[in-house]
Amino acid sequence: NQEKLSSGRFTEATDAFVEEFTASIQFDQRMYKQDIQGSIAHARMLYKVGVLTAKEEDAIIKGLEHIWSEIENDQMHWSIKQEDIHMNIESRLTQMIGVTGKKLHTGRSRNDQVATDIRLYVRDQIDLIQQDLRRLQAGLVELAEREADTIMPGFTHLQTAQPVTFGHHMLAWYEMLVRDEERLLDCRKRVNSLPLGSAALAGTTYPIDREYTAQLLGFDRVCQNSLDGVSDRDFAIEFASWAAIFIMHLTRFSEELILWSSAQFQFIDLPDRFCTGSSIMPQKKNPDVPELVRGKSGRVYGHLVSLLTLMKSQPLAYNKDNQEDKEPLFDTIDTVRGCLRAFGDMMPALEVKRDNTYRAARNGFATATDLADYLVRKGLAFRDAHEAVGLAVAHGVKTKQDLADMSLATLQGFCEVIEQDVYEVLTLEGSVNARNHLGGTAPAQVRLQVAQAKTRLAS
Ligand code: ARG
Repeated sequence: NQEKLSSGRFTEATDAFVEEFTASIQFDQRMYKQDIQGSIAHARMLYKVGVLTAKEEDAIIKGLEHIWSEIENDQMHWSIKQEDIHMNIESRLTQMIGVTGKKLHTGRSRNDQVATDIRLYVRDQIDLIQQDLRRLQAGLVELAEREADTIMPGFTHLQTAQPVTFGHHMLAWYEMLVRDEERLLDCRKRVNSLPLGSAALAGTTYPIDREYTAQLLGFDRVCQNSLDGVSDRDFAIEFASWAAIFIMHLTRFSEELILWSSAQFQFIDLPDRFCTGSSIMPQKKNPDVPELVRGKSGRVYGHLVSLLTLMKSQPLAYNKDNQEDKEPLFDTIDTVRGCLRAFGDMMPALEVKRDNTYRAARNGFATATDLADYLVRKGLAFRDAHEAVGLAVAHGVKTKQDLADMSLATLQGFCEVIEQDVYEVLTLEGSVNARNHLGGTAPAQVRLQVAQAKTRLAS
């Protein structure tokens, strides 16, 4: 019991199982860097306000830097007896520099320490995730540019609707990721607030300078209420919500990639390095990466619900419940980063089977709306045009021919205003090129949006 940092009050040693049950060192050691950064800033602040001498500050900082390198070199001995990352590092410091090490915790509690560590950790991860997001955005833009003229069927209800360009479809995904990036950066603002100085819950009697600590650690602001500072986990829930929305987007991409690479669609070829085979069926090439990403949405949504449930009804201020915030949060981060990496590698390598997407667009009467619009230009009311084209489509279904394959006489049988120029609007190229306005599917618009995206990504 003696080696424990908080043994004074106890008359018997902690039960061995309870020790294990209550420890978090197994999973919170990944915050060692943030814990040490926080401690160094705290020590510098204590020196600035006269609580530590220059010599003490120096010894503490040198000791912490040494521990940092021990950890990086796998030389740190992690002990369950020291419960968590905070006490493991502090006890190692005291072991190294003696009584001065015991002064580091002046004016601080593990409650504000852990809240600070998590915020620093999440902030660091947000910055890395933003880079990964941008990499995927760039990959989609590259693909959109390559496939700006590629025609495919656009769908509603998964039924052929109107022709679109493949590039336009990729830019739809890009737009989702731009919003994801905006939401992520907005979440970062609330993550980047300093709890340290809240101490256990009520603040501390030392003349601390929280603004200084915040400045040293790159926080934009200081948590304004100590009770809130130690107990707020909104930022973690917000991040998990962000992740849930983001991975929902990836499941939509995944679903389409899975469909498109099937023998029934054959729109794309996923490079072999992103697929696996079957142990029994020799012909199989399975789209494992998108399938797994789609499946991983389950745990990300689950972690959001875990965190919401963890915080639900918690009275102020810190409760040990909060130790349960880390595993869902860390797994959310790992999952998101894994998915981003896989998609970032895969998307630019996607091979589009242009002949197949073109043929598919020719098959489902994708230009029926164009014909209706043509009739409107010739003077019909839209509803009458819709009716006439509907009859033409029914004829096409019965006789197995596309609108563009019907003779002029046949078409005129459905509406006498139709003339030879109708064939210009019945082509797929004519259809997509005609939608040449902001947000439309025309190749010219895709190129414009690609250029804008590239400018944005370069900034
Ligand atoms: N390991 C703890 C956590 O993750 C650190 C804070 C512990 N504070 C306490 N009063 N027991 O939340």
